[in-house]
Amino acid sequence: MCGVFGYVGNPSNVGETVLAALKTLEYRGYDSWGLALATPDDLMVHKDVGRINGHVRSYPRSNQGIGHTRWATHGGVQAVNSHPHLDCFRRIAVVHNGIIENHAELRQQLVQRGHRLESETDSDVVAHLVEEELASGSVLGAAVATVFSLLEGYNAIVVMDRVEQQFAATKRVSPLVLGRSDRGSTVASDAIALSDHADELIYLEDDQLALLSADSVRVFDRSSMRQISPVSVAQLDEKAMVTLAGYPDFLSKEVAEQPAALRRLVSEGRKEIEKLAQAIATAEKVIVTGCGTAGNAALAGAYLLEEICGRTVTMIPASEFRYRSRTLDSKSLVIALSQSGETVDVLDAVTDAKQRGAKLAAIVNTPMSTLDRTVETRVLLRAGPEQCVLATKSYTTMLATLVLAAHAVDDHWSTGSNLVLRAADAIETLLLNGCRQRIGEVANRIAAEEHLFVIGRGPHYPSALEAALKIKEVSYIHAEGFAAGELKHGVIALVEPGTPCLVLAPNDATRTDVLSGAAELRSRGGYVIGVGGTGDDVFDDFIEIPEAGLADVIVEAVPGQLLGYFAAMARGNDPDRPRNLAKSVTVK
Ligand code: F6R
Repeated sequence: MCGVFGYVGNPSNVGETVLAALKTLEYRGYDSWGLALATPDDLMVHKDVGRINGHVRSYPRSNQGIGHTRWATHGGVQAVNSHPHLDCFRRIAVVHNGIIENHAELRQQLVQRGHRLESETDSDVVAHLVEEELASGSVLGAAVATVFSLLEGYNAIVVMDRVEQQFAATKRVSPLVLGRSDRGSTVASDAIALSDHADELIYLEDDQLALLSADSVRVFDRSSMRQISPVSVAQLDEKAMVTLAGYPDFLSKEVAEQPAALRRLVSEGRKEIEKLAQAIATAEKVIVTGCGTAGNAALAGAYLLEEICGRTVTMIPASEFRYRSRTLDSKSLVIALSQSGETVDVLDAVTDAKQRGAKLAAIVNTPMSTLDRTVETRVLLRAGPEQCVLATKSYTTMLATLVLAAHAVDDHWSTGSNLVLRAADAIETLLLNGCRQRIGEVANRIAAEEHLFVIGRGPHYPSALEAALKIKEVSYIHAEGFAAGELKHGVIALVEPGTPCLVLAPNDATRTDVLSGAAELRSRGGYVIGVGGTGDDVFDDFIEIPEAGLADVIVEAVPGQLLGYFAAMARGNDPDRPRNLAKSVTVK
């Protein structure tokens, strides 16, 4: 949530450099954006509201610039609340990701001391506090370390000083990565923004502070300000993977990438997945956790592990984890699922589990993310960067990992891998033939509706939750997923003549009972849309999908993704950047 970027180096078109980097970071927040450039005796500031993509503008030559894409937490979506925030003398420009929990108190003290704070955000206190530290004789690094110690909450800050021509950057939980090349030094929330600017990357840790100048990146222990030698890693060349490559939007592209991602996981992920299976096999208690779509994958995992390898697994949503973690101990295994590896609720859950002595594992898509760096056992999804705010390929590869791991617990890797490869083929077929078009027709039929329900049973219940999530977050139709058997205990009161009801009805042990639920919906006038390998008279409409046995849960994710997509298009919504959302949720 919120993307930050800073560059200091050879004098050049730094404005365009910052703008280009912000475009790659826009997925972290697209309420507003802004940048500041150091000019010989001032800061040039440009702030704007709304999307940054497509923005072209020329800026004065400079050798230092800083930028931000904002997901609003404090203060409305207005240019004045966009970052960077400046001190009273326009020497300092600050960008921030996180929430300064004690900002009101700090703000009040600064105003009493005569500062002018122009925005309503929690962030601009930082610029004025640094201003005071510098005025009292501190150098930039010490000033920022002192100010950071005053801030409560999870925060990442980058402070640009146009006088010393340096950046100071430091963090707690919210990510920051540093880059260095012979052209200059860079800092950002995500390595993707550093693709053109760094040969090597340094992932800043929570107790560190970095100072960046045109010719060096130095890292210090924040409390002693003693210089340390950080670990640097090679830059992954992911730039090609964040272009549209001919697709109209990232949602279409990432849905289409799913078969290849599943096959890649099978061919490259075996060692990591077998290690996870070993951890599952030896743990006394297994807990899976995640948020949103990753939480739905975790819930599906609980069903799959129980069904495939007979393990009892508890799913705890990451944001609820701390209220249910009391019984964890060193014989417990906590498996955290996350696309970004930066979701704060997930990181908090993992920290809690670690404090209780539990073993930690992760199923994560982003290499070198905080989650990836924290756990002992991890499976990398290898789905490639997910730019669309909606999680798609990360969800299906998470499910595939769980299917593979559940089989590997009993040494049945090839059975699991055949299932996943079958799912990959099935999705390919689904995307290629008239099925995609069929889903588009159904979406057009439901696009004007206000409410929609999705039902499934057993492992298809998490699929129902996920389909509803995909549909609602991008089309804004109010969609809810339910365990089919729960309908008659209350939800059915909401069904009116014509209410669209999606029924996940694969050919397995859940079919007969889910069809009974469908009949109950139809008797109340619900418009019943079946999804599965075989039609039934109870369906008013039917989306046929190829069957994949136990891997049906992977394939049946795709109709929900495409229904959301087509309904969003019919309603004129942006499929990649739904309102109010951000890709990486780094605040509580
Ligand atoms: C939905 C979606 C979110 C994320 C959730 C967790 O399409 O993208 O619900 O799944 O914010 O994010 P990660 O997986 O990055 O922890």
